[in-house]
Amino acid sequence: MSLLKEFLSQVGEGYLLIDRESRVVFGNDFLLRRGLLKEGFEGKPYYECINNLTVVKCLAEALLEGRDKVCDFSHEEREYSLYAFVGGELMVVRFSDITEFRRYERSRREFVANVSHELKTPIAVLKSLLETLYEEEDREEKKVFLEKALKRVEELRRLVEDLLILTRLESGEERLKRETINLRLLVEEVFELLESQAQERGVRLYNEVREGFKVKGDWDKLFLLVKNLVDNAIKYNRPDGSVEVRAYQRDGSAVVEVSDTGVGIPREHLPFIFERFYRVEPSRSRERGGTGLGLSIVKHIALSHGGKVQVESKEGEGSTFRVCLPLE
Ligand SMILES: Nc1ncnc2c1ncn2[C@@H]1O[C@H](COP(=O)(O)OP(=O)(O)O)[C@@H](O)[C@H]1O
Ligand SMILES: [Mg+2]
Repeated sequence: MSLLKEFLSQVGEGYLLIDRESRVVFGNDFLLRRGLLKEGFEGKPYYECINNLTVVKCLAEALLEGRDKVCDFSHEEREYSLYAFVGGELMVVRFSDITEFRRYERSRREFVANVSHELKTPIAVLKSLLETLYEEEDREEKKVFLEKALKRVEELRRLVEDLLILTRLESGEERLKRETINLRLLVEEVFELLESQAQERGVRLYNEVREGFKVKGDWDKLFLLVKNLVDNAIKYNRPDGSVEVRAYQRDGSAVVEVSDTGVGIPREHLPFIFERFYRVEPSRSRERGGTGLGLSIVKHIALSHGGKVQVESKEGEGSTFRVCLPLE
């Protein structure tokens, strides 16, 4: 045991053991050095010797609920991630210093945001120049080239726009409004925006949200969420297919569903489709004007509203994306 204790006193992470009576049985030097734990902790209740309120709250919840818990917190200018494993006799708590990781994440986000921002203006200029050239060109063979160039520039514009939206959402700096939203109206406006795209593909759109159905949240963000889901449902549909949006209440949540009759998503891809740039068929996505960021944006918006998003899909039959938003 003493060897183990010596080992635990040297490691670069914090370890804490708490027994069933909420008493601290062990805490390593890391926790003392970082000022997270008070000297003379042995045998005392954890809430009397831990110097951080967030940690105390998190451990209380883990003990109360009897299940593992993760939470992030900051203490004396450093950031930590805590993992509480609830065992039979003891609760084992691990503290990792994630300050450097967070710093790295922040600088990555800032870099992407800056680059995207810098690219916006040149792309807009390029686009309008190409449009002018296209309009003034009479020779068909030249027009074909210009059309291709325009399509590529539009792809770029969309990518930069999505990157900016996503980095803003990821930073957590975006303030969400809490508006009462008429969901039927919101879906109607999304349909108006995507109507021509749906017609081109021969896909019919059905708004099945009942009159007077309300959700709480940020109109612009939820608009973006529904837009991305309906956009996918149109793009990955079959000709003469359909898209249906429904909404209902269940277990204290407002549930919004977007269903399509499209190609579906093979089972093995389902766990990954919400990741940035993940596509089931990259060529199909690109050909249909996708950036590969739509579902990441959807996920972030759902999470920032305290909600979640799920998907059910059958290859060749269609998919249903389900977003749950808390009512209060
Ligand atoms: N309704 C859907 N039906 C079938 N596949 C879908 C659907 N929605 C998303 N996908 C798959 O998930 C991938 C990621 O979606 P998304 O993040 O919106 O990127 P993209 O820009 O490619 O649409 C898509 O490339 C596609 O393969
Ligand atoms: Mg998409």
